[in-house]
Amino acid sequence: MEKLFIFDTTLRDGEQVPGCQLNTIEKIEVAKNLELLGVDVIEAGFPISSPGDFNSVVEISKAVTWPTICALTRAVEKDIEVAAEALKYAKKKRIHTGIGTSEYHIKYKFNSTKEEIIERAIAAVKYAKRFVEDIEFYAEDAGRTDNEYLARVVQAVINAGATVVNIPDTTGYCLPTEYGAKIKYLIDNVDMKNAILSTHCHQDLGMATANSIMGVLNGARQVEVTVNGIGERAGNTSLEEVVMAIKSHKELNIETNINTQRIYPLSRMISSLMNMPVQPNKAIVGRNAFAHSSGIHQDGVLKNLSTYEIIDPKDVGIDDNAIVLTARSGRAALKNRLNLLKIDVNDIQLDEIYKRFLDLADKKKDITDEDILILAGKETDKMHHIKLEYLQVTSGIGIRNIANVGLDIAGEKFEASATGNGPVDAAIKAVKNIIKRQTTIQEFLIQAINKGSDDVGKVHMQLEYEGQTYYGFSANTDIVAASVEAYVNAINKFVK
Ligand code: KIV
Ligand code: ZN
Repeated sequence: MEKLFIFDTTLRDGEQVPGCQLNTIEKIEVAKNLELLGVDVIEAGFPISSPGDFNSVVEISKAVTWPTICALTRAVEKDIEVAAEALKYAKKKRIHTGIGTSEYHIKYKFNSTKEEIIERAIAAVKYAKRFVEDIEFYAEDAGRTDNEYLARVVQAVINAGATVVNIPDTTGYCLPTEYGAKIKYLIDNVDMKNAILSTHCHQDLGMATANSIMGVLNGARQVEVTVNGIGERAGNTSLEEVVMAIKSHKELNIETNINTQRIYPLSRMISSLMNMPVQPNKAIVGRNAFAHSSGIHQDGVLKNLSTYEIIDPKDVGIDDNAIVLTARSGRAALKNRLNLLKIDVNDIQLDEIYKRFLDLADKKKDITDEDILILAGKETDKMHHIKLEYLQVTSGIGIRNIANVGLDIAGEKFEASATGNGPVDAAIKAVKNIIKRQTTIQEFLIQAINKGSDDVGKVHMQLEYEGQTYYGFSANTDIVAASVEAYVNAINKFVK
């Protein structure tokens, strides 16, 4: 097996996305999780770009032990000095310096010549080498750089001491065959004894993963990736896709150091810290990535997972039941879910529930366990332990949002008020003031059944309490009321 190095740039290229910025504490948390995931290199930032970035590289260098910590620079001496300073505490360190090599960059960005760019590239690598042994060079816009010139640049920086040469498809322009051929051309025409090639692909045409894999098949031994594929514009190559493609295709004889069971939890963490939802149909980590909704597929998966599944969800840290019940689900899938929910039904009862299920599925896309429990009339008593007696909310623009809530807890009456950044926030805070439990709302989904302003809003909520996840849901024409009811529904599952 040959080793493929995983270079994670979630904290540098990924973090360049507007609105996704993390503070230093959050970055340290992410870096520690990347270390647990098993990445080889963490690109921790671009130290000259801001004091915040500088500080993050310093703190991540202190916090992380095993992976190499990498800092980005331009081919500019001051950048390199600042990067070296920021990497002071790193146990293993790398400077990632580089310059644009395509005609577009040489002409419009630098108003320079091909020869001058090679000189600047060599000078940057030699200067960086004074501070750090491990130097990676990036030939920005290599995707649109002609291969012959690119090979000259790559050879020159390797001769100057670069240990890794990054071939970025900066604009996400290349086709997989083209990118693969570029890597092959370099492998065939450059003396690679003392260095390896790295892929760095962008997703502008949706080909980042395919391009990275083609790069690997043609000899690249490092891939630059981000968790969830986040990154500027359409994003970068996603870590989970490359890692799972390599893992699924054993015949490639390539391995990574990634502990794949940590992929999903880290994906969730990045998504919530960066306020960047993962599209439901995203490969590997999307909500629907392992959700079989057609009746035929569900039937097959229930008989044997391998019929329609190439990856065991547990391998990427997903423990949930993979079957999503929708209007297309058959009786077998419904019966299976009822069994999982420990509800025994005979055939006549199953027919009844199935009819009601189809009725509901016509109105609502995905049917949750909660819906099934209600359809099967199995609402347990403890779900009614806490009842919402009343809810009064004052909200609007230019005034404070205030909520007054009355709860009945096992026959006893409680009241509380709270303010919040919106009516839902105020109302949930008021409930929290009564129940006094530390809960975190992990997911909060408001869904309309039909259309129009008089529609019923369905609220699905996922709460975390003492390390466990609890689900709540409700439907109401008033979405603030539905939200509070869903919250109360969820807390009923653990407040005894
Ligand atoms: O996309 C790119 O070219 C980059 C380089 C700075 C490595 O992110
Ligand atoms: Zn990039």
